[in-house]
Amino acid sequence: MNLVRAIYPGSFDPLTNGHLDLIERGSKIFEELIVAILRNAEKDPLFTVSERREMLEKMVKPFPNVRIEVFEGLLVEFAMQKKATVLLRGIRAISDYEYELQMALMNRKLQPELETVFMMPAEAYSYLSSRLVKEIFRLGGSVRGLVPELVEQKLREKFAGEVRTF
Ligand code: PNS
Repeated sequence: MNLVRAIYPGSFDPLTNGHLDLIERGSKIFEELIVAILRNAEKDPLFTVSERREMLEKMVKPFPNVRIEVFEGLLVEFAMQKKATVLLRGIRAISDYEYELQMALMNRKLQPELETVFMMPAEAYSYLSSRLVKEIFRLGGSVRGLVPELVEQKLREKFAGEVRTF
């Protein structure tokens, strides 16, 4: 059997427990897992790429076969450059399916040798997203148990001084 190097791409703005759950699952079935943070000039992220990278790097320490990288441009090109053969994506609910299918098939059209593998996070995280975490936190709600404590701390620092409740 060949060594399988997989890429788990995303924005990770910020990392959630759902992402971590998928990273752990991926680390068990692939020999190497590269968590790839998209540097996207169009989006207006809450955390800078280096802040996201730092949080991810700390949180993946328990998994020796996982490493963090940053990419820009086409995902398939980054994957080929890294000699990866698998793209890993998480599917939480059926609502994710259409978008994920479209991306997977487009990536296959661009690079037929790359296979997209979908995994499901634990059901406790099936309703969790970075977007909702940011919104809830911004509005003064609790994100305990939804993101690692480190991320919660960084959210607190980010919003320090801002009035979060109405
Ligand atoms: O966490 P996200 O925002 O759902 O991740 C989306 C991501 C990074 C996987 C997607 O936007 C991506 O692959 N962007 C890189 C540009 C690219 O290759 N686009 C064509 C996709 S078919």
